Parts: sequence; C-alpha cells; structure tokens
Amino acid sequence: MPSFPRTRMRRNRASSFIRSLVAENRVSATDLILPVFLTDAAKSSPVASMPGVFRHSLDDVLRVAEQAAELGIPALALFPEVDAALKTPDCSESWREDNLINRAIARLKQGFPGLGLITDVALDPYNPLGHDGYLVGDRIVNDETIEALVRQALSLARAGTDIVAPSDMMDGRIGVIRDALDAEGFTDVGLMSYAVKYASAYYGPFRDAIGSGGALKGDKKTYQMDTANALEGLREVELDIEEGADTVMVKPGLPYLDMVCRVKEAFGVPTFAYQVSGEYAAIMAATENGWLDHDRVWLETLLSFKRAGADGVLTYGAIMVARLLAEGA
Ligand code: PBG
Repeated sequence: MPSFPRTRMRRNRASSFIRSLVAENRVSATDLILPVFLTDAAKSSPVASMPGVFRHSLDDVLRVAEQAAELGIPALALFPEVDAALKTPDCSESWREDNLINRAIARLKQGFPGLGLITDVALDPYNPLGHDGYLVGDRIVNDETIEALVRQALSLARAGTDIVAPSDMMDGRIGVIRDALDAEGFTDVGLMSYAVKYASAYYGPFRDAIGSGGALKGDKKTYQMDTANALEGLREVELDIEEGADTVMVKPGLPYLDMVCRVKEAFGVPTFAYQVSGEYAAIMAATENGWLDHDRVWLETLLSFKRAGADGVLTYGAIMVARLLAEGA
C-alpha cells in the first residue's frame, strides 16, 4: 500500500455512502438469539436487576415469541424459574415430562413451529443449592452429574426442543449426550456447547431471575473456567467438537471477545457469544442514567461481536435491537 499522501485512509470515511460500502461487518436480527426467562406463576414479573426483562408466564411468552418471529429473530433460549418446592437434591424435576420448560417448548412449537428453541442442560434451576451439578460432600461430582444431564437432555428432546445447550461445564458430557440422543432417534436435535464458560461475576442478575443465586453455596470455580485462561478455552472447544458439538459458545461476551476471535480462527466452527445478564445490567444502568447513549451503545456493542467473529449473539436486548434495526438504525 502506498503511503501518505497517495494513501489517505480518511477518503473511505468521508461520506455516509462510502462508509456503508466499505463496512466489513453488519448486525442483523438474524444474528440474534433471545434468552427468555419462564415462570409458572400466573403473571409475568420484572427482573429487578435487568430493566425491561421479565420472567414470562406461559401465556406471555407466546407474545414474546410472536414479536421475535415478526422481527426475524431466529431462535429463543429458554430458562425456567423453578418453584422452590420442586427443587430436590436429585433434581428429578429437570427431566419430568410435564415440567415448566417442557410445557413451554410444546406451546411455543405449536404456535411458532419455525422459531428455533434452544434449551439449557444444567441442574442449577432444579438444585436447591443452585449448582449446575450434584454436590457430594464438598465436591461437584462429574460423572454422576452427566447421568442426570442425559435424562434432562432426552426429556427436552422428547418435548420438541431443536437444540440442547449444555451450560454445566462437566467434562465429557457432550459425547455422552450426543450418543444418548442418537440412540433414541433424535439425530436431528442439535448440540450447542457452552464450551468456553468462565466462572464470571457477570451472572449475578441471571441467578436473581431464575432464583438460584440466593441459595448458591460457594462458587462455581471447580467447573467453570478461570477467568485468567485462554489456551485452556481452546482445549475445551477442541474436546467438545471431537465429542460432537455442532456449535460452540463463549460466555460471557464482551469481556471475552478475544476468545470469540481465537476460537473462530482456530476451529472455523459456528461460534456464538452470550452477552450475559450482568453485561445487560451494566449497559442499562448507564443508559438509564443518561451516561451512555442507549441506541448507539447497543448497536456498537453487538457489532463488536460480529467483528470478533461471532456467528450469532445471545442477548437480552435482541427484541429491542431488532426493532432499532428494522427502523433503519
Ligand atoms: C447456568 C447458567 C448460567 C447462565 C446461563 N446458564 C448461570 C451460571 O452459570 O451460574 C448465565 C446467563 C446470564 O448471566 O445471562 N447453567
């Protein structure tokens, strides 16, 4: 490339038409996945630490699905707030045929067959302790937890989920779940692995939303990744791909864009990022105070995921951002 004055980088920034022609990345509604909280209560309730986000009743969630479908959002990711009385040490509510999440899947599939449903595989909503696996003594046990995760994944598949998304970070669960799904004929049910999931402080509002935070004993550092590590994340992804993951995820999102970029470059597999509850809360706190410009910050933040190489982003702002995009933002 010739140097200045023959090259003037500002020429390609000089007007809006050329900026739009040379733009390398764009966000569209089709890049977004909306995480949705569900409740068995008759009425939806707001999540205090996430302005604009609700735990939706089964009636209201149909309206949310309708909005998402109309805006071109391809999929929802469902998370249940489970009644405290249904939480047991064996977490058997997680695989009960008629549980909240399975009823939601059936209703959503009936109303919106084309809208993708991604459902979480992990025990924390069902565990009185708020942990993703079984606690024996002071340890979260891996292999016994996987047996429960398999039952949960099969139950979700029977209810009609399109994709199961293990978010538990147990070792070896992807391969075992893939085999179990195939053995029951669910060869088309996809596996989205939370492959690079950190023991992050950004999950606080989510735990409030599903009611797992108050009870959480200790932390999740013996199964979720140390926030200091990057190479370890690449090994996690490699293992999950070998075990049969169709898509992989990095979580949280913005503080870990380096991992989105490295995973995509190293493996070239469909890579998703989860802009988690605490990221949403942080942006909303600043924009509600007038300290940051709401619309511009949202669009800039989601564009940064695309620039890093994400194929899609799970974000609680999906509907709001899709509306902005539909308005021509
Ligand atoms: C639990 C799970 C968590 C999230 C998704 N699945 C919380 C945790 O690991 O404690 C967090 C999502 C968010 O913060 O938005 N399996």
